[in-house]
Amino acid sequence: MSVTVETAARNTPAAVIVAIDGPSGTGKSSTSKAVAAKLGLSYLDTGAQYRAITWWMISNGVDVQDAAAVANASAKPAIVSGTDPAAPTITVDGADASGPIRTQEVTAKVSAVSAVAEVRARITELQREIAAAAEGGIVVEGRDIGTTVLPDADLKVFLTASPEARAARRSGELKGSQASGLAATRDALVKRDAADSSRKTSPLAKADDAVEVDTTELTLQQVIECVVTLVEEKRAAR
Ligand code: DC
Repeated sequence: MSVTVETAARNTPAAVIVAIDGPSGTGKSSTSKAVAAKLGLSYLDTGAQYRAITWWMISNGVDVQDAAAVANASAKPAIVSGTDPAAPTITVDGADASGPIRTQEVTAKVSAVSAVAEVRARITELQREIAAAAEGGIVVEGRDIGTTVLPDADLKVFLTASPEARAARRSGELKGSQASGLAATRDALVKRDAADSSRKTSPLAKADDAVEVDTTELTLQQVIECVVTLVEEKRAAR
């Protein structure tokens, strides 16, 4: 029996857990999805989960500035993430939330909701369950994955970029009525990062053992190749 298990373990690349953290506009989502697809791993966008719970609070009349009200409601919504990097999904109480979670209203309110300790405890538990269930391994992107959610991840990457580069990328992603000036986008990003970095419970932070990659001067393709190489090196070293 043990021979069969050992043989199977040698023939299949070991499940690898990759944590990718960093502020918005550093290319985290595009990089994480592409790396997962290339290496046959699952993919989890944890920002989408915080956006989903924020959308539920707004839709159900909860004042997001009232931390006690947000805490009281935090266990109510059922949030389900699909982890195929080619087509990630997110539902709230069974309804597709992928469009509504990207509105400016949700973006403006998500930092307040995600700073509430009860919200973080609830979402962190979901994230750990999803990572444990991903048999072939997973790329998890967020702000506190390497520091708090999955401190034993096989590889931790922290992506950075100048505020100007991040604002330019984010402006390019926003369409039509959501597009605002570059300066306004930059100011909104800097404000959200400051809120995410200064909150008491598991703030946006680089883990001591994370590899920092400054993407300011890199193309998306270069960042993807860099992270794929880092994962392959980790796998080879095991
Ligand atoms: O990655 P994003 O912009 O979709 O994330 C939205 C917000 O969710 C971000 O401003 C902070 C919060 N977030 C968090 O607190 N912890 C995470 N692991 C991921 C996101």
